[in-house]
Amino acid sequence: MLGRSAERTAAAGLLEEAASGHGGLLLLAGEAGIGKTTMLHAIAADARRRGLMVRIAGTPADPDRAAFSPWVQLFEEHLRELDAGAARRVVGPAGAALTLLGLGDAAGAPKHAAGMGQGGRHRLLRQLAEVWQRAADAAPGGLLLALDDLHWADLGTVLLLIEMAGRLAGHRMAVVATLRPGDPVAGRVAEALGELPRLARLTLPLTRLDDAALTALTQAVGLTATADLVAQLSRRTGGNPFFATQLLQMLAANAANAPQVLAVEVPVHVVEVVRRRLARLPAATAGLLEVAAVLGAAGAVETLAATAGRDLGGVLGDLEPAVTSGLLADAGAGRWRFVHALVRDAVVDGLGARRRLDINASALAVLRDGRSPAPAAELARHSPGGLPLTSREDAVDLCRHLDRAVDTGI
Ligand SMILES: Nc1ncnc2c1ncn2[C@@H]1O[C@H](COP(=O)(O)OP(=O)(O)OP(=O)(O)O)[C@@H](O)[C@H]1O
Ligand SMILES: [Mg+2]
Repeated sequence: MLGRSAERTAAAGLLEEAASGHGGLLLLAGEAGIGKTTMLHAIAADARRRGLMVRIAGTPADPDRAAFSPWVQLFEEHLRELDAGAARRVVGPAGAALTLLGLGDAAGAPKHAAGMGQGGRHRLLRQLAEVWQRAADAAPGGLLLALDDLHWADLGTVLLLIEMAGRLAGHRMAVVATLRPGDPVAGRVAEALGELPRLARLTLPLTRLDDAALTALTQAVGLTATADLVAQLSRRTGGNPFFATQLLQMLAANAANAPQVLAVEVPVHVVEVVRRRLARLPAATAGLLEVAAVLGAAGAVETLAATAGRDLGGVLGDLEPAVTSGLLADAGAGRWRFVHALVRDAVVDGLGARRRLDINASALAVLRDGRSPAPAAELARHSPGGLPLTSREDAVDLCRHLDRAVDTGI
């Protein structure tokens, strides 16, 4: 793993405290592909080196996944590795609770729980959390539980994590979990996830890899990391390691066309990831991102609203999910910009020809109606070559605009 030394040091501090009986919750937050899972595994490896017992589970993206899915994986793995006597001691009075999670066999509890009785959910959560407390107390070097992709978790999973977070301080146990803060999540799960940063001992936001790490990533695929190449890689990928790795692989396979690949190619996996990210956004937000992508790498919100045929207030609201999900950034002074040039290119690549022409046509109309003369390059970008002129007036009108733009020296 490259870079991230500050984050690793901070995580190591938390592990050290956990090993000495003062555990806590560590959150790793960041956009898709930024390196959360990689960091989670690096922390897990570090924990093992320090003598902690480590259990790792992922959260399936499948909306039909079982309730408590990552916890079920963790319990299953842990209980499987204990002998019968140790498992019984760790399970203690929580056999029925584990059975409710479908873990009757592993827990050595009766197949059908005799109901949770009164207290219901809270009692269930408490009993499950206590299983981990006993597990940690029985692990000589302490215990690290790692949960990946919490943004896909069901409500029970997050509620159990909240229950656990409040109990870690007095035990040799830490929990590390990853999530994408920008992913839209349904109502009560979103609320529960929103509580986590307050309960966490430490939240590490993972951001771009620095140029030294991008240089090493470039060298790792056998390319010479010139300053120019690293600068372009950084600009197009925003330092996102997934995007950078994909682009570098294309580059390594097409070394003869390197400048072309660096400037315009969009790796197919990046297009897929961007499509999935767009699909998770509200339709109005995704639509605005498409318009924005055709308009450019950055622009004025006002122009975006006019091109989309929307009012400014509505557009500002609809852009918010794109900003929280890390696709767009607020560039200040009423302007937006794409965080990664590669994301913008991938959005444009994913557009059908019809949609692209429609956006070009409205962009052109907006530019023509503008009070100040539109830059010639802007007009040209949305016109002939990309957009067939539909009438003679159209062509004359465009020439007039281009003239005006040239006259005014834009
Ligand atoms: N620090 C790093 N150094 C080198 N490569 C990295 C680093 N972080 C991530 N990568 C690489 O970038 C890619 C994406 O990383 P990773 O899967 O950890 O991202 P993620 O944040 O978990 O993404 P997602 O939200 O989609 O789960 C992987 O191929 C990984 O090997
Ligand atoms: Mg991941």
